[in-house]
Amino acid sequence: MANRKLVAGNWKMHGTADSIAEIVRIAAAVPAGVDVALCLPATLIERAARAVPGFAIGGQDVHGEAKGAFTGDLAAHQLHDAGARLVIVGHSERRDGHRESDGQVRAKAISAMAAALDVILCVGESFAEREAGRAVATVSAQLDASLPPAAPDAVAYEPIWAIGTGRIPSLEDIGEMHSALRGRLVALYGEAGVAVRLLYGGSVKPSNAAEIFGVADVDGALVGGASLTAADFLPIVVAAANS
Ligand code: 13P
Repeated sequence: MANRKLVAGNWKMHGTADSIAEIVRIAAAVPAGVDVALCLPATLIERAARAVPGFAIGGQDVHGEAKGAFTGDLAAHQLHDAGARLVIVGHSERRDGHRESDGQVRAKAISAMAAALDVILCVGESFAEREAGRAVATVSAQLDASLPPAAPDAVAYEPIWAIGTGRIPSLEDIGEMHSALRGRLVALYGEAGVAVRLLYGGSVKPSNAAEIFGVADVDGALVGGASLTAADFLPIVVAAANS
């Protein structure tokens, strides 16, 4: 049986108090048959969680330690306390911009799951790696080194060169990557690896969502820019519900 689809929005460094109305619009229109979440800036998590009880609000990063002298960081239990139900770990903007290693990403996933947060663990190759024919090898190695001992809720395949660019891999390339990732998840977790939701991320829009959701082993999407408004995000959610 196919996994229930998950469409998660990643708001990155966007949103202030006046965005709550948009979050309410999105939460109010979610159709049956699909899981939807919004991963917000930390400053909005508690307000959003109060505004849309029952709707999944998440964070975008978490520290690998449960507490300590880590200025500016957030622990998993603090995100949970603020009302988050899930968190993204290992986004390429953290791996590249903040030099996060696979080992740190793994520690973050472990710490999040210990605090009862669902995890979306991100992996993805650079354009040079894809051009060199090393996309599957690179992303598989990243996955192996980043995965926690217990299966996370979701893994997001986000080719770095597709993020915010309007470019996406061919559907064949998405299918090839997701099938390879599924193989590794099953090798590591057995049956539990079948249930890990494999999300595609990178320039997902209302115009391309349906065809992406039609690819085997695509169990949803991690959406950046198009998750910021109900007008763009809801058609993607509906495409997932109908797929
Ligand atoms: P875009 O959808 O804006 O390309 O961003 C993708 C992403 O990075 C989601 O985490």
